[in-house]
Amino acid sequence: MKLTRREAIRLGIVGGGGLLLPFGYQPPAQAQFSPQVKRFDLPFRRPPLLQPVRSDDTTDYYEITMQKSRVEILPGKTTEIWGYNGMTPGPLIRQKGGKRDLGGRQSIIRFINQLGTDPQGRPIKTSVHLHGMASLPQYDGYAEDLTAPGQYKDYIYPNERPATLWYHDHAIDLTSRNAYMGLAGMYIVEDDYELTQLNLPQGEYDVPLILQDKRFATDGSFIFDDRGQKGLFGDIILVNGVPWPHMEVANRKYRFRLLNASVSRGYQLALSTGDDLIVIGTDAGLRGTPLKTKNFEIFPAERYEFIIDFSKYPVGTQIVLRNLGVPLSVDYSSNTQELMRFEVVRRESDDSTIPAVLRDFKPIDPALAVRTRTFRLERNINNWTINGRTWNKNRSEANPNYGDIEIWNLVSTGGWFHPIHIHLLDMQLLARNGSSPRPYEIGWKDVFYVGEFQTVQVIGKFGPQIGRYMMHCHNLVHEDHAMMAQFEVGQGGYSPFSAPPKSLPATPL
Ligand code: C2O
Ligand code: CU
Ligand code: CU
Repeated sequence: MKLTRREAIRLGIVGGGGLLLPFGYQPPAQAQFSPQVKRFDLPFRRPPLLQPVRSDDTTDYYEITMQKSRVEILPGKTTEIWGYNGMTPGPLIRQKGGKRDLGGRQSIIRFINQLGTDPQGRPIKTSVHLHGMASLPQYDGYAEDLTAPGQYKDYIYPNERPATLWYHDHAIDLTSRNAYMGLAGMYIVEDDYELTQLNLPQGEYDVPLILQDKRFATDGSFIFDDRGQKGLFGDIILVNGVPWPHMEVANRKYRFRLLNASVSRGYQLALSTGDDLIVIGTDAGLRGTPLKTKNFEIFPAERYEFIIDFSKYPVGTQIVLRNLGVPLSVDYSSNTQELMRFEVVRRESDDSTIPAVLRDFKPIDPALAVRTRTFRLERNINNWTINGRTWNKNRSEANPNYGDIEIWNLVSTGGWFHPIHIHLLDMQLLARNGSSPRPYEIGWKDVFYVGEFQTVQVIGKFGPQIGRYMMHCHNLVHEDHAMMAQFEVGQGGYSPFSAPPKSLPATPL
């Protein structure tokens, strides 16, 4: 991306513009780059699949320990991470789900906190959010429902909607640090319809792609610099925890499940060949119909599923997955303009297909909305705010009735872009600045990009649970400072604190 002077000043790249800096930001010190890594040198890796510790008629039980470890991310160096089972991204969970009467299964995950203390000597407390799951309030990773080191908590997940989800830390005020240190992983819910009725690429041809950007010190440790609460932008791109990997593929179709797990960075994806990406899914599952596009943007916490058909490329072809950039994300020359490379290395037959209809998708009729609410996203002197207020667990910013359809206007008054995440429900984008959404954004979603000075209208039906849930900016730096609010669906829901963590030693799962 080319920065305009105004953008560059806002990002603190250009000196001497002090008076023009909004909100009194200090220009950061001289940019410091991470140790160099050769692009497309390291092999592509998939996060390992987590097996249940046991299963019964209705439920699969898993166990994950959150712990520090040292891993090799940059060749020849080690980095301290805080990871689920000591790895980052965390292990992949593939859960059989769907409606209970159609064979869907719930899952219970025991998250054990063995993280110890941070460099300041404070205990590293956690809250685990499974992003995209309609969990009860006490299992939703409420930011103040904290599990301390030496404690564990069993989270219950209903898995009723097939989609690409992710689990990540949500500890109050420290989410950006904890997720950046490594506490993030993918969780896929699949149902019978998708596995047996649709003939999309499956198994090894159904591939997670978890995008992150990091900065490293010369000794290999992560550098966390939020540029005065604006955002954290790394110059090393990781895909599934590997810097700029190369992936060997057969000349056939692959399904990719792309998650932007970056703290602040947005990406605009495109293939170096200029060929189409075939988008089949959004945050909350499959689209109605496949959509061909040459590029699409993905902001923090969004998920897109797409198919690349490698069958037209001869063996030996190399295709780079590129990042064309988005406004207000700092691009470090070619470093962040490339993500990974595909290398067609073998021929293979392919009986998978992309059906013309993926699932029944109906836009929600705006005339059914019983209420419209407006949320102003703005900066004050010290913080990011929603309707001028910062997070307060004792206040709800909205009280929709259970089952009501509402339209929410998300309004950025400037200063930055905000990927807004609303917990609990899947919503649809109605309009951006009064115009139609970009075609690939049409579908069920739980994160909505609100560009600077934009007004984004979303619509949804409040449910399927009652109780208190969070909404916030998913630029995690903004979330921590404290662009987060609460809404309460219906009345009489469980308190987010009604399933407190327990102390180790744990009882058997
Ligand atoms: Cu992915 Cu409330 O977060
Ligand atoms: Cu969420
Ligand atoms: Cu924001």
